[in-house]
Amino acid sequence: MTTATKTDLSVTLAGLELKTPLMSASGTFGHGLEMGNFVAPETLGAWVSKTVTLLPRHGNPAPRICETEAGFLNSIGLENRGVEDYEQKVLPTLKRAGVTVITNIGGATPEEFVEMAARLDGYDEIHAFEVNLSCPNVQGGKLPFATDPATAELTLRGVREATTKPLFAKLSPNLAGIGEIAKAVEAGGADGITAVNTLLGMSVDWRTQKPGLALVMGGYSGVAVKPVALRCAWNCATAVKIPIIGCGGITTAADVLEFLVAGCTAVQIGTASFSNPSLLAELPAQLEELLADAGVASVAELIGSMKAGY
Ligand SMILES: Cc1cc2nc3c(=O)[nH]c(=O)nc-3n(C[C@H](O)[C@H](O)[C@H](O)COP(=O)(O)O)c2cc1C
Repeated sequence: MTTATKTDLSVTLAGLELKTPLMSASGTFGHGLEMGNFVAPETLGAWVSKTVTLLPRHGNPAPRICETEAGFLNSIGLENRGVEDYEQKVLPTLKRAGVTVITNIGGATPEEFVEMAARLDGYDEIHAFEVNLSCPNVQGGKLPFATDPATAELTLRGVREATTKPLFAKLSPNLAGIGEIAKAVEAGGADGITAVNTLLGMSVDWRTQKPGLALVMGGYSGVAVKPVALRCAWNCATAVKIPIIGCGGITTAADVLEFLVAGCTAVQIGTASFSNPSLLAELPAQLEELLADAGVASVAELIGSMKAGY
């Protein structure tokens, strides 16, 4: 089949004009642009940083990543070099990279999130923040911020006052009512929602009787979590008016389009980049081919186009 005009892959997300709906997922695509040899940064819809915290974090004891039958378990524990290193070493490299940069911020208290956003607000090379609400809240019995609507709303409200940049609240799938948290972060001033972070899981070897991870439980990700992530993204899309970024198990161009049809404006690719680091470079052409075959001129036409009922 020949197409006279190129398929339009661009989307508008909370005021950001993205070349494609494709982003890297936090923590899976380098601390800075280390993956540039596999994926030219300027071809990405957006690059999302690993979670950055005020102080450097060494992370959890090893083993902190293990493979399962389908996907990864990880308990990295938000290892990162802290905001000062991010400012001095990473941000200068992003300046001329020609990519939309979303900096994922973390904190142990609502005040730490606010401090992070206030400190990084002045950098033009950051286009938006992703607020990692899966961080444990030390004032709330170490439960993630994303588990309590009031804390999630309060955190977003504080961050909203500290910056004018678009804010994406990254939610956890490990709760009963993700729609309630989605409404809370929307009320707190979020411009969009990333759905979702990893699912809680564990593995054990019956011969050695050792768990796969030193801390036993960790975050499960990869192809097997896709139906759960898709359901969470759809729950959010039907609960709020702000746009949704789908994340979880996305591996193929068809997966990307499924998340768009279910109501997402953009998507993030995480674990799939470990087995194919060039995946994010390959997906645009695959999307164009699928859409051209189906006679769809623009990827944006598919957003939220799911037909409920039979
Ligand atoms: C090794 C690893 C490290 C991660 N680190 C972070 C992180 O620092 N911050 C964050 O918000 N999510 C982090 N995530 C979660 C991913 O961004 C993503 O939400 C999750 O893995 C689901 O997507 P996937 O199935 O495509 O990997 C991490 C995931 C993995 C596998």
